[in-house]
Amino acid sequence: MAKEKLHIIPHDHDISQADREKLNGHKGLLIWFTGLSGSGKSTVANLLERKLYEKGIHTFILDGDNIRSGLNSDLDFSSESRKENIRRIGEVSNLFVNNGTVALSAFISPFRSDRDQVRNIVGSDRYLEIFVDCPLEVCEERDVKGLYKKARAGEISNFTGISSPFEAPENPDVHLRTDKESKEDCVTKIMDVILPKMALK
Ligand code: PPS
Repeated sequence: MAKEKLHIIPHDHDISQADREKLNGHKGLLIWFTGLSGSGKSTVANLLERKLYEKGIHTFILDGDNIRSGLNSDLDFSSESRKENIRRIGEVSNLFVNNGTVALSAFISPFRSDRDQVRNIVGSDRYLEIFVDCPLEVCEERDVKGLYKKARAGEISNFTGISSPFEAPENPDVHLRTDKESKEDCVTKIMDVILPKMALK
């Protein structure tokens, strides 16, 4: 329903995003990790957060474990639910960015249109897309959670890469190959791109 019909009138607060960024000493950004289950999204996001923390940068990780077990516990893995999952996460990520935080959001986010919606919510100057690329065979071989085996056995439906599609980013800001690059190298690649973007003018 349109905002006007609900009588919702957005307004600014006394302390602005720019004020909070000045206090933090860096800009707020959204670092969006997309990739198959088992590709290494959380591993890379965790190491990146550690490196940013050591530099005094304010961060927060959003991932399936903390979002799907709470805020989005009403959603499953149908296309409609994944769309709503990513939309809500985009809105929450935007709150962190408005707070002057560097949000690290790690979700399969298999659909290009859903990722584009997040970019629109946050603004393209605040959104950086990291493609955590790893061949399906390698993710399946790793099978850290044993989910690929279950998906192949037909025990899990709509499993990304097996029975549900993954639309690879066409023009990511950073393209990682976690089957070939160490997690340290992946984090260095990301830092080279994101650090200049979070500098205050
Ligand atoms: S999505 O597609 O962005 O809405 O998915 P996401 O919120 O990132 O959740 C992915 C994690 O849920 C587990 N899981 C599944 N993944 C894919 N397909 C199906 N059907 C599925 N069912 C459960 C899986 O552990 C994913 O975790 P990661 O960290 O990606 O391995």
